[in-house]
Amino acid sequence: MTQVSAMWHRTHTLGELNKSHAGQDVILTGWVNRHRDHGQFIFLDLRDRYGITQAVVDPERTPAVYDMAKGLRAEFVVAIKGKVVARPDGMINKNMATGDVDVHITDLRILNKCDVLPFNIQDDGDVSEALRLKHRYLDLRRPVMKNNIVNRTKFVGEMRRALDARNFLDIETPILYKSTPEGAREYLVPSRIHPGHFYALPQSPQLFKQTLMISGFDRYYQVVKCFRDEDLRADRQPEFTQIDVEMSFVDEALITNTLEEVVRKAVTNFYDGQVNLAKPFPRHTFAQVMDDYGVDKPDLRFDLKLKNITDLVSKSEFKVFSDAVSSQGIVNCLVVPSAAEKFSRKDIDELGDVAKNHGGKGLAWIKKSSGTGLASWSGPIAKFFTEADCTAIEARADIKSGDLILFGAGTYDSTKSMLGAVRNFLGAKLKLFDPKDLYFLWVTEFPLLERDEENNRWLARHHPFTSPRPEDLHMMKTDPGKVRASAYDLVLNGYEVAGGSVRIHDPDIQKQLFSIIGLSEEEAHAKFGFLLDALRFGAPPHAGIAFGLDRMVMCLTGATAIRDVIAFPKTLKGTCLLTGAPTIATLPQLKDLHIKVEVPPPTPPSPV
Ligand code: AMO
Ligand code: AMP
Repeated sequence: MTQVSAMWHRTHTLGELNKSHAGQDVILTGWVNRHRDHGQFIFLDLRDRYGITQAVVDPERTPAVYDMAKGLRAEFVVAIKGKVVARPDGMINKNMATGDVDVHITDLRILNKCDVLPFNIQDDGDVSEALRLKHRYLDLRRPVMKNNIVNRTKFVGEMRRALDARNFLDIETPILYKSTPEGAREYLVPSRIHPGHFYALPQSPQLFKQTLMISGFDRYYQVVKCFRDEDLRADRQPEFTQIDVEMSFVDEALITNTLEEVVRKAVTNFYDGQVNLAKPFPRHTFAQVMDDYGVDKPDLRFDLKLKNITDLVSKSEFKVFSDAVSSQGIVNCLVVPSAAEKFSRKDIDELGDVAKNHGGKGLAWIKKSSGTGLASWSGPIAKFFTEADCTAIEARADIKSGDLILFGAGTYDSTKSMLGAVRNFLGAKLKLFDPKDLYFLWVTEFPLLERDEENNRWLARHHPFTSPRPEDLHMMKTDPGKVRASAYDLVLNGYEVAGGSVRIHDPDIQKQLFSIIGLSEEEAHAKFGFLLDALRFGAPPHAGIAFGLDRMVMCLTGATAIRDVIAFPKTLKGTCLLTGAPTIATLPQLKDLHIKVEVPPPTPPSPV
């Protein structure tokens, strides 16, 4: 190895050479992707971030290089000097960008060796995620992961350019912050200088960005880490990245239109113009998407709607239905076209499990064969219906021969939730959409408040600075549960990829809201004091939104978990398998921070 001699500087990357370079002398650097010794020649596929180039060693012309090349193994790091040679027509590899040339090596340096690999880098084969995360540096060399990271950078760049072009200022806000609970549990950081005092890591820069509006920076954005100590899932990380935005002198229409333009521009450029996006993005109200799709972030790449049949089954002999209606619940059905034959008992049981995992008590079903009326219905609950029920339900839900009909009954929330989950499951199982499609929509008119039944109180659904819709203000005192917010989410392929709201800038409305959610003036001040103070000093009307960058990139790259678009993610248990975080603090560290750990954990937490 040649650490001491002068570095050979590469003349080209490994994705660059083609026929037009034939005859040139080049220097290339990279990793040995593959290494084939054909006796007569050694073929080396060299790889870097940009691509793969095939290099050839000829033992007759360069015997010393040949001897060295025989010792090469996968993932050794090398530099070569050589000449670009066009391949004869029959030898061109159309699958490789550089497939019409070889580089005939004249000199070789081995810059570093590589240990025996824990898994194969060359392809995207199945490797356990724990192993991939432990050796993330290797995992990130694999083509799919490399592309995800490159694409993430590309998308962030496009978003920045679109925001910069519209006069948004990129302003940083503190990470060592004050505890201001927004919903999820916070991460605390002990202060060494102030014994017993803690910073909190921000769940979002919400209060700072509103403060910036009051300072007159009328258009702000930031690509920013946010921290939430919540239960993790495929689309949730304890630290994730937002593209956070706030604007002054805007209403709901202007902010959503402006950000829609930003997203359309960024996504179109991201795909180099090769993408079809609806213009404008469709807008649906929260009430409408809940009714039609059972979730507030519907995947509209396929149009399967829930049908309400509550009024048709109120007197049903099937107790599950009539009981649901008599206790103010609902009965909905989901018609799966031409699925009666395709779905076995086992398949339907699988759907029942999905329903049960999402708050349902069960999933009733009927299959409609050819023919008409009740005689064409089969399944365990068919016997409970009359001809008249059958006619009415078929007309309401547009049922055709060969369809499978799934029924959910119970409270509004549990019924929507179970059938919404079944709908999503069916979309994937029956491949009801083209995975390359991108379906953006806005969901608007969310309720301002939600009921915390356990503690018998109202909570702000988004956050307590979200403005009620002006036309609903009159219900704030009389019927707060009915008040809709000026809040909006952007949904992409079934994921909430952004959420935001118009903010309250009127101190009286703010006071009213705090009182409804049971925050005394003192408590409100203790929690949000600096913003409440600032709001008294000439706050412009303002509104904002935050994009979940990881989720956006996951959808744009076709990844199935946000872990795959984050260079160094945490496991579902919040651990980092690469570094071993979190670790046990040493006694001197704890002493410095004035912290006593009551029961020191005897062993590190289990990683996965
Ligand atoms: P919200 O809490 O809706 O709004 O967050 C905005 C967006 O961030 C993404 N997101 C997450 N992504 C990965 N892991 C998580 N744990 C996670 N939590 C949220 C989602 C979500 O749509 N301050 C407000 C925004 C505003 O009102 O301007 C906020 O943070 O894609
Ligand atoms: P049971 O009377 O509990 O044996 O249920 C009869 C059928 O109704 C089974 O197929 C159950 O899965 C289904 N079922 C039970 N509860 C519900 C519900 N809340 N909504 C829809 N179907 C249900």
